[in-house]
Amino acid sequence: MATAHSISGQSQAGLVIRPVQPTIGAEIEGVDLSKPLTDEMRNAIRAAVLKYKVVFFRDQALDDASQAAFAGNFGPLYTHPTTRHETANTAVHAINARYDREFEKKLGRKLKAGDAYHTDTSWRLVPTWGAVLRDVNLPEVGGDTIWVDANLAYETLSDELKARLDGKYVTHNFSDSLELAGHEYPIVSHKVVRTHRETGQKILWVNFQQQPQILGVELSESRELLDEVLRQYKRPDVQARFSWRPGTVAFWDNRAAVHYAVRNYGDFPRELHRILIADEPLWTDL
Ligand code: SIN
Repeated sequence: MATAHSISGQSQAGLVIRPVQPTIGAEIEGVDLSKPLTDEMRNAIRAAVLKYKVVFFRDQALDDASQAAFAGNFGPLYTHPTTRHETANTAVHAINARYDREFEKKLGRKLKAGDAYHTDTSWRLVPTWGAVLRDVNLPEVGGDTIWVDANLAYETLSDELKARLDGKYVTHNFSDSLELAGHEYPIVSHKVVRTHRETGQKILWVNFQQQPQILGVELSESRELLDEVLRQYKRPDVQARFSWRPGTVAFWDNRAAVHYAVRNYGDFPRELHRILIADEPLWTDL
């Protein structure tokens, strides 16, 4: 029997949840994120993030404080060591290509910035679990963000590639950027194919911003395998491409989705504010 994915909104806790792609991305209507959430709403949003990996809210009116209050419903906020503390809220990280260019000058090398498929804080032993991103200054057109369903990316690999990648570990090296920010951290490795702690899904999890290297194989084989992972991430079938407009908020599960910022807006000072959500204390202290 043929299966079809429905886009009719499902109603939960007064919210309407409409998938934007069959397995990744959903728009949620019926909530004002600047107001306190009921437990029921919070649970329904969390469940939607787990199911769709990234959810979007339109027509919101958040500032840094209300963005942080919303994110705080889902765990402790994590302040990234490279965050420029330009606002009163220390967890708010401004994403702006101009800041990256300034950072590159100090670093003395080009950053593989937003325009590479990545997860947030994969350099940490226990990466942040979620992120809430809102627009601050958008170009009239362009500057979309792409999220990849990293479970579907794994499931649609050939059996041969699955067997080659399963059980392998990958390092992510972010040390020069961290050192510049005065933060010391050892280089750690994670499984290339991780099992999501809550959904049990297998996730193909590589950060192409941070010099990934697969351990236990020759460098040439590491490169070949990473090329295969990248090929998977680039397949439109596993992606949700999202166009921002003023008043948009995105909330994603950083353990399940990989993302990519499309930089096609010249030198427009596009700016988004991101807040990271730490994993549960049991895991963050590992
Ligand atoms: C990010 O890459 O973390 C933010 C996404 C974006 O700038 O579109």
